[in-house]
Amino acid sequence: MKKKIALIFGITGQDGSYLAKLLLKKKYEVHGVIRRSSSFNTKRIEDIYVDPHYSKDFFLHYGDMTDALSINNLISKLKPNEIYNLAAQSHVAVSFDLPEYTANVDGLGTLRILEAINTNKLQKKTKFYQAGTSEMYGSSSPPQNEKTSFNPRSPYAVSKLFAHWITINYREAYGIYACNGILFNHESPVRGYTFVTQKIVQALCKIKKGSKEKLFLGNIYSKRDWGHAEDYVKAMWLMLQQKTPQDFVIATGEQYTVKNFIELVAKKLDMKINWKGQGLKEKGYYKGKEIIKIDKKYFRPTEVESLRGDYTKAKRLLKWKPSHNINTLVTDMIKKII
Ligand code: NAP
Ligand code: GDD
Repeated sequence: MKKKIALIFGITGQDGSYLAKLLLKKKYEVHGVIRRSSSFNTKRIEDIYVDPHYSKDFFLHYGDMTDALSINNLISKLKPNEIYNLAAQSHVAVSFDLPEYTANVDGLGTLRILEAINTNKLQKKTKFYQAGTSEMYGSSSPPQNEKTSFNPRSPYAVSKLFAHWITINYREAYGIYACNGILFNHESPVRGYTFVTQKIVQALCKIKKGSKEKLFLGNIYSKRDWGHAEDYVKAMWLMLQQKTPQDFVIATGEQYTVKNFIELVAKKLDMKINWKGQGLKEKGYYKGKEIIKIDKKYFRPTEVESLRGDYTKAKRLLKWKPSHNINTLVTDMIKKII
């Protein structure tokens, strides 16, 4: 039987690397889009990389979400069965520094893919997954589900909201099988170093081993629903295997503060943290030494205070549920370091 062809935008990212591995296991021919970079940006897919002279099922192509020609050329050449758009400037804080670029990549980039599917008349052949985000809920109260209204609080979230609605519009206007996954925060051992979970895990592991470095953080009272990326890419794939395209919330339904996360990591490392002070003066001490400090530069101009997802729809229709909880997630992240 002919292999299904999948095209992944954002294959070098956390989710892209897990998804590529999942699809290879499912016997897909996997194509990934990578950006030209002066240093290697393919570390997360090193273990599945095969020299193109020998590869039968894994191929990388240069492209960029800001370059409509590269997107259109790839889609018209490959005519994929499934396209996963995981490419994004995905850092919320950075989106305040790079608002136009973030809108271009995360918002218009999505439109460029949908338009390529449409103009190449691939509606009947190509299914499309859009990496939506719980950030779109912004200030809406939890639990958030598919019916909750969106109140985005950052250029990143606003750009992703454009991507969300343009995906729905192309589904309705042109009959494209297109789904929005509205995924709550998900982490893993290959999470980027500037996201708060990885930043905490990396720093506490080093401090435990004797490093003198300190951990500087912003708002440690925001609440998040943290899952494991390995579980979440399975949900992406499931969304594209249904009879009709729909949008789904993917979450764990559990919520913790950043401070809870710090304490959980510390507990697993057998470190007791004592907290003193409040607000910008709050500090964390380990064995009498100051190891955690608050730095106002990590506060965002507008914050999303509280996210907790209700994934009832995914459980009912996709038969999806998370296999990890925060405990097993933290264990997995620590295990890969110590
Ligand atoms: P990530 O680790 O930051 O990966 C982002 C990917 O996008 C990387 O492969 C990156 O390439 C690529 N990319 C960035 N700008 C690009 C451009 N201009 N052209 C082409 N590719 C570009 O993000 P992630 O955590 O895997 O998340 C995957 C997707 O899900 C993102 O769209 C994110 O916004 C969304 N999302 C993530 C979460 C989460 O908690 N992880 C939750 C909800 C939604 P380089 O490697 O070259 O930088
Ligand atoms: N990154 C970071 N660094 N965040 C910090 C820090 C810090 O030093 N200190 C406190 N925080 C707080 C942030 O203000 C936020 O409330 C929370 O920790 C989580 O921040 P991130 O880990 O950067 O994730 P995020 O929730 O902003 O965004 C992630 O999840 C979204 C889904 O809700 C990203 O993966 C997005 O791409 C994704 O869409």
